[in-house]
Order: sequence, then C-alpha cells, then structure tokens
Amino acid sequence: MDKFIIQGGKKLKGRVKVSGAKNSSLALMPATLLNNDINTIYNTPEVNDIYTMIKLLQTLGVEIEFNDHKLNLNTKNIVSQIAPYEHVKKMRASVYVLGPLLTKYGYAKVSLPGGCAWGPRPINLHLEAMKKLGAEVELEEGYIIAKSKKLNGAKINFDVSSVGATGNAMMAAVLAKGYTLILNGSMEPEIIQLSEFLVKMGAKISGVGTTTIEIEGVEELSGSEIENIPDRIEVGTLAVAAAITNSNIELEGVRIDHVEAILHKLESCGAKYNYDNKILYLTNTNNISSVDITTSVYPGFPTDMQAQWATLMCLADGTSTIIDNIYYDRFSYVPELNRLGANIEIVNNSAVVKGVKSLKGAKVMSTDLRASASLVLAGLAAEGATEVLRIYHLDRGYQRIEEKLRLLGADIERVQTTEY
Ligand code: EPU
Repeated sequence: MDKFIIQGGKKLKGRVKVSGAKNSSLALMPATLLNNDINTIYNTPEVNDIYTMIKLLQTLGVEIEFNDHKLNLNTKNIVSQIAPYEHVKKMRASVYVLGPLLTKYGYAKVSLPGGCAWGPRPINLHLEAMKKLGAEVELEEGYIIAKSKKLNGAKINFDVSSVGATGNAMMAAVLAKGYTLILNGSMEPEIIQLSEFLVKMGAKISGVGTTTIEIEGVEELSGSEIENIPDRIEVGTLAVAAAITNSNIELEGVRIDHVEAILHKLESCGAKYNYDNKILYLTNTNNISSVDITTSVYPGFPTDMQAQWATLMCLADGTSTIIDNIYYDRFSYVPELNRLGANIEIVNNSAVVKGVKSLKGAKVMSTDLRASASLVLAGLAAEGATEVLRIYHLDRGYQRIEEKLRLLGADIERVQTTEY
C-alpha cells in the first residue's frame, strides 16, 4: 500500500502535459467489442481503471498490447460474453461491455456492480435501454443476463441524463436493426468521443453533442483508431492546485472547450487564465473569493470536480455552498478536510464551507478517487506535513499525479506503508 507525504506551502511553477481522459478511454475500449478487427486508441492514461478494463476485456478474448499510452485491441477471437464479478466489483464502468456484447453476440452476462463508496449508483437506465431495444433482461445470482436474437432500433427517452447509459445505448443501437432515437442523452465530451470512434468504425450517428441522438443501425463495423481526448478533470484538479497555492502554472494539451465551467468559476474566485495553442496558462491572485457551485451535467460544473472545489473554498474569503445534483452524497471527504482544520458542514445534501486562514498538515484517509484528489490539494496548501493514506483510490484515475506535481515544484513523495 502506498501513501503520499506532502510538505505543504510550496509555490508551483512550470509546465506539465495533461494525460488522456480515463472516462473516455473506459468507453472507447469496450466499443471495440463491436467489431472483429484490430483497433488502436492513442493517448490512453496509465491508470488502474484502465488496467482493470484491460483484464476484463482479456477475459472476453480481446488481445491487448499497451505501450506508451498506445492501446491496441484485437477483437478477432472473442471467446466469452461473461463479465465476472471479480472485475466488475472493482470498477462500475465494466458495465460498458453490456451493450456491445449483447448487440454483437446476442448474449451478455454481466455482474451487477453493487454499491459505491458514496452511495447507490443504479444501472436501471442501462437495463431499460437494452429492453427498449428488444432484449430480454433478467437478474440472476448477482448477474445481469441479457439476450436477444437481433436488437431492433427504438425510442429511448432517459428520465435522467446518464453518461454510461447513453454510451451503452449508443453502442447497442449501432448494430441494431433500423432507427434509434435517444432523448435526454448525455452531452459529455466522453460521449462525443465515443460517437466519433463508432462513426470511424462505420456507425451512422447524428446529433451527438446535443441531448437528441439519432442512430441508424448497420450490419457490421470494422476496426479503427482514435486519439483520446485530454482528461478535463485532471486539468481542473491541477488548475485548483495552482489557485490554492497562489501559483502560476502551464498545462499542455488542454481542450479549453471541455473545461469552461471550471475556468469560469476559477475566474469568479480571482484566478486568471490565458489559452494559446492548447496550453492553458493559469495566473492567480493572492485572495481566493468564495464561490458557490452546483454540479450538473455537461456543460455545467462537473461532479468529478466538486471535492477539489470544496478544498479550494476551505481557504477562501467567506462562506460558500457546494451542491451536488448528480450524486447527492458525494461528501465523504468532508471529515478528512476538517481534520486538516477546514470548517465544512454538511447541510441537507450540500456542503457549507466557511473559509479559514490556513490548513494544518495531518494524517488523512482517501475514501474515493476525487476525495483523494481533494486531500492532495489540501496537503499542498497546508502548513507542515500531510500524509494521505489509501491512495490506491487516486491511482484509479490520475496518472502518477505526484510526478506532475513534483515537476511543478511541489514537495510530495510516494512511500510504501503498512498503514491502512
Ligand atoms: N443514474 C441512474 N440510473 C442509471 C444510471 C445513472 O439513476 O442507470 C443516475 C446516477 O445515479 C447519477 C446520474 O444518473 O445521479 C448520472 O450518472 P451517470 O450514469 O452519468 O454516471 P456514470 O456514467 O456511472 C460517469 C463517470 C463518473 C462521473 C459521472 C457523472 C465514467 C466511467 N464515470 O459515471 O466518473 O462522476 O459520469 O459525470 O465515465 C470519476 O471519474 O470519478 C467518476 C465517478
């Protein structure tokens, strides 16, 4: 087990390159199950969720090579349509294999993901979409069993906008017979990227980037390649690192259109930025003003940046309110930040953050991926040493963040520990 030891208070400066987006890779990889061919995904991040998806796809028969962020996936010899519990329990995104396996092979058996660190995360919308497309779906002994001869295009009107369910429905519909209309679909960049990949394989999709997505099913798809988008949440996390340490840094390889909501809030609290040739230049002022956020679907403020924002607000001038409209309970980081001297209270599914003059280093424990990022950010700004335990959560989604932060001048070290 590893932990971070951070000596806080160092100013950051310099430039780092942003990694590829974890959440788009996790959709692109299972999409390759839709063909029997060779596919390549460039700019794939080296993070543990990607290794989990690799293992899952390998159990299905996908031959995979992963070198220097280039991922080759050969789907010519698929041997199984079963996604076992041992992989799915580690990562909910495993459910992305459901749509592709069902539509391509007429059968998919996928373990139910179960609970999540911050509360229930249902998959009812994924299952309803498969049923709308004509599949028989049953739950048996902890598994989803979905069957169908050939899926048929259908109208799928999501009650709630869901990234995963939109992705699964799109992947199932591209090989279904006839026309599918998805209403209230996700507009997230990861879904746009998935659609781009499917279209390159030969799928017929339009309307992506809006909530109305139209798909005309095709008989078969061929192998393709795609350059993955940069990780917008890593950009946001590093931008907050700059703001909270009152530093000027440069982030290379940024898609500014993907981070507008975050940058807008950063500007409101006093930070400044410039953007040129895919480089984001972040300049900060001495005072952080308090700024409320309410998370929402893209292009709104992302839930995956909520915990990091709360950390920034710990040192702001005044009181701010953080409301998560996507995951109401995503506040497990609050008691840990309070151990560092923050003043945060949970009030009716929102976090009310009263700014304090300083945070003081202590031992804290990660509870999930974005919560661990929030603790690292707090450690960068805190006086003295902060130890962040259980950083295996962080390693699921950030590619060696400590190396990036060290390049920027932070004093952060990864050390092995028996502490849990
Ligand atoms: N929802 C349902 N039923 C469903 C699916 C979703 O009610 O069948 C609800 C959820 O409970 C939530 C909302 O719909 O309230 C949105 O969830 P969504 O399905 O969009 O989330 P997801 O696809 O499971 C992805 C990211 C998450 C990110 C969310 C929201 C991946 C692999 N994961 O999850 O990323 O928080 O979208 O943007 O793309 C992370 O990276 O830390 C992370 C958790």
